[in-house]
Amino acid sequence: SDLIHQAAQAIRSANKIAILTGAGVSKESGVPTFRDALDGLWAKYNPEELATPMAFHKNPKLVWDWYQFRRELVSQAKPNPGHVALAEIEKRYPRTVVITQNVDDLHEQAGSKNIIHLHGNIAESKCLANCKGTPTIIDIEAFEWDREQGPPACPHCGEAVRPNVVWFHEMLPEADLERAYAVSLACDLMIVVGTSGLVNPAGTLPKIAREYPDLPAKIVEVNPDYSMVTPIADIKLEAPSGEILPEVIEVLDTLDK
Ligand code: APR
Repeated sequence: SDLIHQAAQAIRSANKIAILTGAGVSKESGVPTFRDALDGLWAKYNPEELATPMAFHKNPKLVWDWYQFRRELVSQAKPNPGHVALAEIEKRYPRTVVITQNVDDLHEQAGSKNIIHLHGNIAESKCLANCKGTPTIIDIEAFEWDREQGPPACPHCGEAVRPNVVWFHEMLPEADLERAYAVSLACDLMIVVGTSGLVNPAGTLPKIAREYPDLPAKIVEVNPDYSMVTPIADIKLEAPSGEILPEVIEVLDTLDK
């Protein structure tokens, strides 16, 4: 509870807060983290082999069906108390920005407003060739196609349609990444929730925030396990975010009274 108090104090005394989130924050909503999503039917596939442009070229139906399975899971998910607590922080401190690696919209559903999505949006689809500009979003419900055959063809150019997410070996959306760097440099507190920190460039953001000589940020990490962020965390809350973040809000409330 001392650490919860310290985290609450860090939030109260911060000027600009950045919140970096990963799959762990959505786990208590029933969305498996990327690396443990592979149960049942999908157990034999490795995400680093499925979530790549090469995998899609080789077997578009396999990759498409895997995303349809994850889309289904995400569409049924509701925000958990961790998402709600992060939205509460932004309500109290409007200069807060959420940078998420998640492709769900659970932060939005919980009420967060300033959000940067680094890895896209799984609910959306786009033309593989981005024939009408990057990204060329395609509404796959707007036309007829055979759902047994894998991805539909782009109605503009006939190229395959793919999920609007960032795959391994792909660049992140440039404007979003630029903004994420800027927010990381400008913040004086970064709260890092539910990410292994294994995937770059998102994984480098806490380091950038902490090591910026003009304004070194304090790092608060929320993760029940060790991560790549743990060695640089000033305060580590070693618990599931849906349990511990609401407690931080409670302490904030008592301190603000
Ligand atoms: N609360 C907080 N953290 C949790 C919880 C929880 N309830 N449960 C698990 N975690 C932590 C795990 O300990 C782990 O450190 O969440 C982290 C999830 O790590 P990853 O599965 O590697 O997810 P993430 O860091 O988001 O992955 C980054 O990699 O696969 C790509 O594009 C994909 O966006 C993803 C990126």
